[in-house]
Amino acid sequence: SRTYYHDFVVKSTPLVRLCEKKNILSVNGQFPGPTLRAHRWDTLVVNVHNQAQHNITIHWHGVRQLRDPWSDGASYITQCPIWPGQNFTYTVRLTEEEGTVWWHAHDHAARATVHGAIIVFPRPGTTYPFPKPHKEVPIILGEWWEMDVLDIYEAAAQTGEDPMHSDAYTINGQPGYLYSCSKPEETFKMQVEQGKTYLLRVINAAMEEQLFFAVAGHRLTLVGTDGSYTEPLATDHIMISPGQTMDLLLLADQPPGDYAMAASPFDSGMGSMHHRHTSRTNGMGGGSVPPTAGTNNATTGLFQYVVGSSSSSTPMFPSLPSYNDSHSANSFTSRIRGRDRAALGRVADERMFVVLSMNTMGPTSGGGGMAMAMATRKSASMNNISFAEPRGADVLGAYYRNVSGVYEEDFPGEPARRFDYTGDGAAEEEMWPPERGTKAKVVEYGRSVEVVLQAASVTGEESHPMHFHGHSFYVVGWGFGNFDPEKDPLKYNLVNPPKQSTFAVPKGGWAVIRFRADNPGVWLLHCHFEHHHFKGMGMVFIVKDGQHLHTRLRHPPKNLPTC
Ligand code: C2O
Ligand code: CU
Repeated sequence: SRTYYHDFVVKSTPLVRLCEKKNILSVNGQFPGPTLRAHRWDTLVVNVHNQAQHNITIHWHGVRQLRDPWSDGASYITQCPIWPGQNFTYTVRLTEEEGTVWWHAHDHAARATVHGAIIVFPRPGTTYPFPKPHKEVPIILGEWWEMDVLDIYEAAAQTGEDPMHSDAYTINGQPGYLYSCSKPEETFKMQVEQGKTYLLRVINAAMEEQLFFAVAGHRLTLVGTDGSYTEPLATDHIMISPGQTMDLLLLADQPPGDYAMAASPFDSGMGSMHHRHTSRTNGMGGGSVPPTAGTNNATTGLFQYVVGSSSSSTPMFPSLPSYNDSHSANSFTSRIRGRDRAALGRVADERMFVVLSMNTMGPTSGGGGMAMAMATRKSASMNNISFAEPRGADVLGAYYRNVSGVYEEDFPGEPARRFDYTGDGAAEEEMWPPERGTKAKVVEYGRSVEVVLQAASVTGEESHPMHFHGHSFYVVGWGFGNFDPEKDPLKYNLVNPPKQSTFAVPKGGWAVIRFRADNPGVWLLHCHFEHHHFKGMGMVFIVKDGQHLHTRLRHPPKNLPTC
């Protein structure tokens, strides 16, 4: 195995999109940032230099960081942030993950533009479970804001309101030809040769949106998610949640020409926020009229056959499901199967039932006029605890050094009360007001853990793409309504469940994940919708050390930032 060294310089960089020049935070002046490539069991050593005005950490999303949460990069969870003018070197040891993972900033909203792909090839001498593709191309689905995205999220944090939405979606940093004022160079283009197979490594780096993605005229075959292989799954489109990666094989088997690839939002329950986009799109672009409602806010790229392609040809547009087509989204998700023979036991060692909820925060100790203002403040919670990041210390450092007062170990494994979570009667008083706290669930090394994640429709229905640091989990089941502890476990897939590190609990529904607590340290489980995360939809698992040297937490690196 090899070690690759990289320098990441995080700084404000001027970029022009859609006729506007903006300064955005970038890594090495690139948006999206550099793609890192390595083989399984290699190590990436990345020295991150913060030349921005904001605190920065980098999270290696989907990398297990076995025994080494010190390099996990969750701000105030596993490290103090890298202050402006400082640097920190992350050691990213690739172990079990193979496929597409990614990196992104993990301090407030900086991840909006500070992100990039990590491609993990099979170990030398081993190969993919499918024929080797001719080329592999990262497809990073992101966003573009007319305003400063950090200001937008700062304002949302101040007021407690939802953040303003982005103005365009992007493919590899380019909005594509459907948005008004898009220059020809603002469309991502990929040249292909007829008869060759390509591997698209798709990452949803958007802040708040599940997305559909398709390529006109071409079938896609899903072969991996979140750094694990899946059984090959042929499909016309995918639905991908924020945080997820999906590896897609695509055979260039069509007559030469230009074919659009496109991504458009799938309703995750954020309601009216979407409508402001339509003014920016002309709906026509250079192509044919998009056929479905889902495409009135679509980002496009071009898939171009190198022979016979002429610039005057009108690209064919893919048929994307419309914005509220949950049937298409759910039927795709329900067909994904893992390739592991998981051999999971019927019953896990530890079982938790966690209610995910958006709430309004009640009056707090602030008192007086402040309490009045707080009464309508939106918040988010897990088992009625709204996660508060510690200040002045990080959870991992406090755990390692036995510092008290930074976090508590009493995260409840059950909600205080059971109620009808998804019916019309999901009354807010059942959940109101959530308590703010920094609470951890402590698990002994080696235990198998099952977590039932139940979405509650307290202030409206939303889905929750839940992401776990330090572990992949098996998605053994999911469904709609209230989880039924008698009947639903009988339907678990314990044989070939998908292995992921992000899974969206559907709105008005539930999902059950299983993982083995075999990675000692402190690991965040949180919603990957950015505004749910910062409003408190997160909690921390502390996995205790095992008996052996190789099952214990590593020592901290010497140059860790201090708070
Ligand atoms: Cu991709 Cu904790 O995040
Ligand atoms: Cu959420």
